[in-house]
Amino acid sequence: MEPMSDGSSFFVTTPIFYVNDVPHIGHAYTEVAADVLARWHRQRGDDTWFLTGTDEHGQKILRTATANGVTPQEWADKLVEESWKPLLETIDLSNDDFIRTTEPRHEENVQKFLQHLYDTGFIYTGEYEGYYCVGCEEYKQAGDLVDGSGEYAGQRVCAIHSKPVELLHEKNYFFKMSAFAEQLLALYEERPDFVQPESARNEVLAFVRSGLDDLSISRSSFDWGVKVPWDESHVVYVWFDALLNYVTAVGYGQDEAEFERRWPATHLVGKDILRFHAVIWPAMLMAAGLPVPHRVFGHGWLLVGGEKMSKSKLTGIAPTQITDTFGSDAFRYYFLRAISFGQDGSFSWEDLHARYTSELANGFGNLASRVIAMVSRYCDGVIPAPGAFSEADVAIQAIERTATATASIAIDRLAIHEAIHEVWTLVDGLNGYITEQEPWALAKKPEERERLETVLYTAVRGLGTLAVLLSPVLPKATAKLWTALGGDGAVQDQRIDHAWEWSGAASVAPLEALFPRIETTE
Ligand code: MSP
Repeated sequence: MEPMSDGSSFFVTTPIFYVNDVPHIGHAYTEVAADVLARWHRQRGDDTWFLTGTDEHGQKILRTATANGVTPQEWADKLVEESWKPLLETIDLSNDDFIRTTEPRHEENVQKFLQHLYDTGFIYTGEYEGYYCVGCEEYKQAGDLVDGSGEYAGQRVCAIHSKPVELLHEKNYFFKMSAFAEQLLALYEERPDFVQPESARNEVLAFVRSGLDDLSISRSSFDWGVKVPWDESHVVYVWFDALLNYVTAVGYGQDEAEFERRWPATHLVGKDILRFHAVIWPAMLMAAGLPVPHRVFGHGWLLVGGEKMSKSKLTGIAPTQITDTFGSDAFRYYFLRAISFGQDGSFSWEDLHARYTSELANGFGNLASRVIAMVSRYCDGVIPAPGAFSEADVAIQAIERTATATASIAIDRLAIHEAIHEVWTLVDGLNGYITEQEPWALAKKPEERERLETVLYTAVRGLGTLAVLLSPVLPKATAKLWTALGGDGAVQDQRIDHAWEWSGAASVAPLEALFPRIETTE
């Protein structure tokens, strides 16, 4: 399989985050995964768009705002400005847009969408009684509940939030979702990679096969939401509103050309919100006669002490707790390398520190410093021209080519951890090469001058290839490395599918340690 061709359109999204609380590393995890994909595609010349944002309506936000004595809009504005937008800097995101569901460009087009479904007969009035989890903003089935413990012992609680659910009885508007069960099953069948990974697909298939209910899509007991256009005593159910961000942000309802250009998207979501994206969302789009998403990828959870990390369970870790010490590059690298994308992963400070030291500081950073220092010392900083290549040099060039191709193929499968692993074969290959070739020994023998120059040339070339290939994951370190290597332009503008072809520049400049040692207090 060849990697995708030039100029394809690539639109990647994260979930939009609830502003009831500040970001933790679980949220930042999806953000960096989407960011790496976006940067990779941009470096491949694809017409790329990366969207993220905030989900600001619904009961959960309303309650938090009320508890804090402010209006929900004030609360949302504060959290967005003080916590969610700063996160973009903290982890070095290259998003093209940030949508807030309280913006007119969203609200107006949610109303258009809803009116269209109403006019075409996909919405009707009904009554619903059920158990509602405000944490999930979702009605729960009996099977979704578990026995509570601690202060909730003796009660049935939400399996995700471990908090009691509320019995609600309401007259609502309903979306005829059940009408789309067959069409959804046909979609999963015809496009086996629509829902990924396989485990997520199986869960969704089993869920839809067991039968689909219609969906209650409005609420009248509170008013913090988008008003239902034909009945202002109701607001739109927060998930129905939120899912539409993926199309309102790219022009649905107001800029047809932009919509055509961007849509459909690749959605990255946590596995807990998979059904909303792989069942409800495509059904909504089918009802509106719009194309369904390109794919929906359900990633795993970050676990702390074996449990899903969450603020409500007080296991939440703020991204800055990590980036203040290790930097944003290490944050990005660690979570995408240590966890197979799609699986759960346990976070521990020891593991983070160990990988930082062995892989980033010793593996990559040290390689870069040593090679550049040797070019400075033995060649006055001038990148030498190579002599005849030996088998060892050719082997490095082969790794460069293979890593470039296989990493790109892994990215197309959304296997980010595998892509990094492939690139790392070049880090390891170059380290082994330097150890074996011993340029410091060659430097002592004038008759080995040509060999020394060939080895340093090969090593510099390898580093340039690494800078280009690692730029999506380590944007800051690779920018420094690229400058030190004398590369033309900015590293993030170099074509990633040609990374292996980089043939060096004129001279090197000094390079500070890319990943300085970090002492632990333990
Ligand atoms: N607002 C909804 C999404 C609407 S999308 C149209 C929402 N927001 S959220 O803020 O609660 O969660 C956003 C994302 O964070 C989800 O994908 C969720 O899986 C993810 N995570 C929350 N805790 C997490 C971990 N501990 N680990 C990994 N991801 C986690 O749901």
